Amino acid sequence: MRVALAYSGGLDTTVSIKWLQEKYGAEVITVTVDVGQPEDFEEVERRAFEAGAVKHYLIDGKSRFAEEFVKPAIKANALYEGEYPVSTSLSRYLIAEEVAKVASKEGCDAVAHGCTGKGNDQLRFDATFAVLVPEMKIIAPVREWGMSRDQEIEYARSRGLRIDLKKSRYSIDENLWGRSIEAGDLEDPWHPVDWEAFKFIRPPHEWPEGEEITVEFERGAPVSINGERMPLEEMVMQLNYRAGRHGVGLIDHMEDRVIGLKSREVYEAPAATVLIRAHKDLEKLVLGRRTLAFKRAVEEEWTWLVYAGLWHDPLRRALDAFIEETQKVVTGEVRLRMEKGSLRVMGRRSEYAAYSEELITYSGMSTFDQRAGAAFSNLWSLETRILNRARKSLR
Ligand code: ARG
Repeated sequence: MRVALAYSGGLDTTVSIKWLQEKYGAEVITVTVDVGQPEDFEEVERRAFEAGAVKHYLIDGKSRFAEEFVKPAIKANALYEGEYPVSTSLSRYLIAEEVAKVASKEGCDAVAHGCTGKGNDQLRFDATFAVLVPEMKIIAPVREWGMSRDQEIEYARSRGLRIDLKKSRYSIDENLWGRSIEAGDLEDPWHPVDWEAFKFIRPPHEWPEGEEITVEFERGAPVSINGERMPLEEMVMQLNYRAGRHGVGLIDHMEDRVIGLKSREVYEAPAATVLIRAHKDLEKLVLGRRTLAFKRAVEEEWTWLVYAGLWHDPLRRALDAFIEETQKVVTGEVRLRMEKGSLRVMGRRSEYAAYSEELITYSGMSTFDQRAGAAFSNLWSLETRILNRARKSLR
């Protein structure tokens, strides 16, 4: 048997290489996808070969991740349960797709991933594999082997695997769009997270003077910061540092996993926080209120599909088509101020603004005919008055 394994270089996936060989007699091909995690990829490759991989692929997925996953997420204002920018979720579809591609090219019989049976990540990998390479067997060693972490470390030691037991007390998953921080003392939802858990977000005593930035959008996609155009991938990297310095982008919330468990989740996502806030604000300047209200429902469904492993559901494409249509006028600029842990929108403008200063103004010059307001207002409460009259005897 030949297996393509999604390989991060961590303990679980390193042990998986050996385990797949021993349990299935498999030839293991490892696939590592760079989605912006700060990894020493040469070291990852070395570790894969040491554990017995027959071949290793390193795929640079950063710009595809930015263009094909992060960009639609911005247009969808994607925040699961109002807070989490689905950063880990989005990356899984790209990683699984790259693994499936290698598996097809290498004539594999199976694909494998290192997810546990408790989380959401298994849903994202399994669904993507099942859609893209339905003929292949899916193996998730961690779900099968039933080892505790200590047994796993023992297994690694007994097989001579060089594992790097993290200095970190947390389980971290990082990509361009965000950094997920789990486990350790965070498993107590009452226990506050230490500042040192963060990479971009600085603690209060390091917060600099406030800073203003202007983000420019074209058809819903951010294209420049303070007038400087750059690829989205670069903008996101820059904003993670720039906003994180001011303490912007810290998310600490209770999250509902798909399987029905609540989980305390901590994220740092400075760029996502800034770009989604700015994007939402610009939309409110240019879109009609019924479009905005309907889009909120679409956004919630889009985000749920991404969170829940269903990126490949045709509904996601259909929702993207709706969203894309709305973005035609989401062109303009938003200015924001980052200061001492806060993010504030300070202004917005667009050639497509649906705002009329002439009509709304308080000054006497308005062309708005206020006499028309009386008849409108009278009819506006008509139904409410009828309903109240009809129910008089209830009280
Ligand atoms: N709860 C988040 C999600 O389901 C983050 C998961 C982090 N995954 C990880 N393997 N550490 O998308």
